[in-house]
Amino acid sequence: MAMLLYFLLLLLRLTALPRDSAALTRHDFPDGFIFGAGTSAYQVEGAAAEDGRKPSIWDTFTHQGYSYDKSTADISADQYHHYKDDVKLMHEIGLDAYRFSIAWPRLIPDGRGRINPKGLKYYNNLIDELIRHDIQPHVTIYHLDFPQSLQDEYKGLLSPRFVDDYTAYADACFKSFGDRVKHWVTVNEPNIETIGSFDSGELPPRRCSYPFGVNCTGGNSTTEPYIAAHRLLLAHASAVSLYRDKYQGTQRGQIGITLLGWWHEPATKASRDAAAATRMNDFHIGWFMHPLVYGDYPPVMRRRVGARLPYLTAEQSKNLSGSFDFVGFNHYLVVRAQSDERAFDRKQRDYYNDAAAIANPFKDIQEGHLESAPWALGKLLDHLRLKYRNPPVMIHENGFADAPKTPSKIEFDDDYRSEYLQDYLEVLYQSIRNGSDARGYFVWSFLDVFELLFGYASRFGLCGVDMNAVERTRYMRNSARWYSSFLKGGELRPGSPSGKGYGVA
Ligand SMILES: *[C@@H]1O[C@H](CO)[C@@H](O)[C@H](O)[C@H]1NC(C)=O
Ligand SMILES: *[C@@H]1O[C@H](CO)[C@@H](O)[C@H](O)[C@H]1NC(C)=O
Ligand SMILES: *[C@@H]1O[C@H](CO)[C@@H](O)[C@H](O)[C@H]1NC(C)=O
Ligand SMILES: *[C@@H]1O[C@H](CO)[C@@H](O)[C@H](O)[C@H]1NC(C)=O
Repeated sequence: MAMLLYFLLLLLRLTALPRDSAALTRHDFPDGFIFGAGTSAYQVEGAAAEDGRKPSIWDTFTHQGYSYDKSTADISADQYHHYKDDVKLMHEIGLDAYRFSIAWPRLIPDGRGRINPKGLKYYNNLIDELIRHDIQPHVTIYHLDFPQSLQDEYKGLLSPRFVDDYTAYADACFKSFGDRVKHWVTVNEPNIETIGSFDSGELPPRRCSYPFGVNCTGGNSTTEPYIAAHRLLLAHASAVSLYRDKYQGTQRGQIGITLLGWWHEPATKASRDAAAATRMNDFHIGWFMHPLVYGDYPPVMRRRVGARLPYLTAEQSKNLSGSFDFVGFNHYLVVRAQSDERAFDRKQRDYYNDAAAIANPFKDIQEGHLESAPWALGKLLDHLRLKYRNPPVMIHENGFADAPKTPSKIEFDDDYRSEYLQDYLEVLYQSIRNGSDARGYFVWSFLDVFELLFGYASRFGLCGVDMNAVERTRYMRNSARWYSSFLKGGELRPGSPSGKGYGVA
């Protein structure tokens, strides 16, 4: 892990497209296409112990010193106290939408039961402020920050009780905010939360079993990732059923789920590695997309995971199929997959063994194979179009991390970030031309936040935050100015020969 940021910078080889699309503007995208930027509650809000908020499993994890740089998000960018400044900045940039999440332990501190009036007020204020500035709120209901109280009470996602408590929490969100929130995401990145939290055990609640992880507090890497994924799917379906039955008719919003969208490519030309890459795409994307579209897990997972993969009842299957109005994808990386020929003979198998693949991006990073390649977004969207009936897609995260020597240093110059985003937007445009039903694009992140994997050692923000200043001063980086010029009608690559320069609005 320690090498990750170094390689991120060193090995980022962007294979740009021919520059014929350099003169693209936002008007070349379909009508109603949404351009935004995002954050998540634990990463940006701060005010961790204020106004009745109680800890999530991420507070526990960071307070035990497990984050990359031993930091916490107790304060972070302190959006809780600076949301008005932030909405003003969003308005200046010209964002159509802001993607954020509600902190379950801020709205319902004990995880179930009583709503915290101050938490309710905060989200009402934020949503009202966005709407006053003509910015759509796109809200994630659960973004990894699970209430610690429910973790202690019944082991969280591993218990069927999770589904009921989650549904009641989602109900409170729809009821409280659904008059103004028209885009809901039930769960963020369930396809990696399950691996990080229950297989490798690197993420809270740090459950795993030897030899698949070390120093965990309980767990079983061979079974728990599949159980947790199952509960997340059922919780998603339950919230969608509820929204559709009780709210959608009057509130007229849309609801979906957001998956991590790594794209797996074969590590070599060998056909066994091609097969491994296909398996990994089924394990990573199909694990959730197949149930969401077809009502059951992918056949390859059924075959390989056997009885450890939970079964869906006819009713669960029916409720899952088609349980989305859109699917969000967070896309950053292409991962090289290699066949692990002996994995399937092992007696104890985890997720990667079941997929019989070596496809761990963290390993790639340490060995220097990490690639970020815009074409991979095109392949991902093509795959969704061909294999999953071309669902409406929101690219919910895409962005570029840098790793400054002095994390808190104020730096404006991040043209590499603008170029990265330009390259991906070109591919997205071409995918839409090729028939993909992409409907939105959100930069990760709107501003610097506590990064779940790297604390404050990496920064993704269009806007910077002076993390040393008590008032957490915000400032626009060049990438924010570039995005702004594009959102206001300027060309995608204002610096290119065909571009006209900034400020075309
Ligand atoms: C696991 O715990 C041992 C003993 O506390 C420690 O020496 C080791 O570094 C830990 N390993 C990891 C990967 O955290
Ligand atoms: C994990 O669960 C499986 C199935 O119940 C069991 O066979 C295996 O022994 C468990 N492993 C550990 C490490 O507890
Ligand atoms: C399935 O959906 C129906 C209709 O929305 C709902 O009444 C039922 O409780 C759901 N079943 C499950 C298992 O979630
Ligand atoms: C669009 O389709 C063309 C022709 O099939 C293909 O060459 C190209 O790679 C596709 N582009 C994207 C971004 O999917």
